[in-house]
Amino acid sequence: MLIGQKIEILDSTLREGEQTPGVSFSVDQKIAMAKRLDAFGVDFIELGHPAVAPDVYEAVETLNDLDLNAKKMAHGRASKSDINDAVAIGVGWMGFFFGTSPLSLKHKFNVTKSEALNRIETAVKYGKDKGLKLRFTAEDASRTDLDYLIQVGQLVQKAGVDRFSLADTVGCLTPTKMKELVSRIVCELDIPVHVHCHNDFGMATANALSALEAGAQCVDVAVNGLGERCGLPPLAEVVTALTNIYKVNGNWELGMIPELTEMVDSFSKLDSNANQPIVGKNAFTHKAGLHVKAVVKEPKSYEAISPEAVHRKRHFVIDKYTGKSALNNRLNHMGISVSPKELDTILIEIKSHPEKLNWENAELISLAKSLGIKS
Ligand code: COA
Ligand code: ZN
Repeated sequence: MLIGQKIEILDSTLREGEQTPGVSFSVDQKIAMAKRLDAFGVDFIELGHPAVAPDVYEAVETLNDLDLNAKKMAHGRASKSDINDAVAIGVGWMGFFFGTSPLSLKHKFNVTKSEALNRIETAVKYGKDKGLKLRFTAEDASRTDLDYLIQVGQLVQKAGVDRFSLADTVGCLTPTKMKELVSRIVCELDIPVHVHCHNDFGMATANALSALEAGAQCVDVAVNGLGERCGLPPLAEVVTALTNIYKVNGNWELGMIPELTEMVDSFSKLDSNANQPIVGKNAFTHKAGLHVKAVVKEPKSYEAISPEAVHRKRHFVIDKYTGKSALNNRLNHMGISVSPKELDTILIEIKSHPEKLNWENAELISLAKSLGIKS
């Protein structure tokens, strides 16, 4: 079991880790973490999604200049503008995603299955023409019709993608289902398969290990399990389980785990229980603009269980990861209506304060006033 099989770890602390509500890393902190993650021995480091905010763009640029053994990967949407960012920065690898489940196609993109295939193919061909190594992630793969998922995998493989990644976006798979899914996808494709798990039901590590058992080559992790809501599989759990239970010789510096944990703890300043499934402060909190926009339209987009079912409430964070739609939605709830130009002005100001972890309503009103926007 796993013996002789190639196993890779992709660390997403700098990318999805920063999507954790209440977390924002400075460029210097990202540099420090990237260097230690590289010394630890991860195979890929996700540097960030440059389009999110100017400081994220700057971080991806700066990190890309570091001399690391790990492969450096920029993150983005399956769009020309995000691919252009990766090309302008000169990063070797880019990981982009497109939601493939019926929920994503309907509520996020309002496209048919074949329109989605066209958009995905166009983006992959564009990225390959630009000379990028590409990982394509089928977002919400676990709620995607299997035949369609296979069609997507085969299409991107034919279009030249280097890796195909399956995202269990809302963490609703069980280890058994993950095994079935990955076994099937691995059989249908020749390129390596990656898996991105979420911990909403506390099964992220089990699901990641199960995916590797089924033939996936790479799993995404984050130090201390950071990430949206309940986060990703914690790096420490995955690599120690692989080493001790599965007897994988991953050349990981396991002795560095406490140092990595403490470093990320001190940079993230996250309450230790914040990302606990169901009961944690962040379990039903959405941060990235894209997530908020989708949840406002259809909560199931990024929730496998509704907060009401467990007497919790849904929250949205306003910070540098906020998008136009998320900000507009918050302002509308506050009874404030602004023009598209004013919305842009407020958003630019929010994104120029990356250190600010959450803009409260009163602070947004003062900000609008200080920008001369009458609400
Ligand atoms: N591939 C291609 N296009 C996509 C896309 C995808 N995966 N996701 C969204 N888009 C398109 C939308 O359809 C929209 O197009 P339109 O203007 O023609 O309607 C456009 O991108 C803008 O949508 P969105 O990204 O939601 O804009 P926004 O201003 O609300 O948010 C960001 C901008 C950068 C903040 C947002 O993209 C974001 O939150 N990114 C980080 C989160 C992330 O990457 N999450 C996914 C993995 S966990
Ligand atoms: Zn994720």
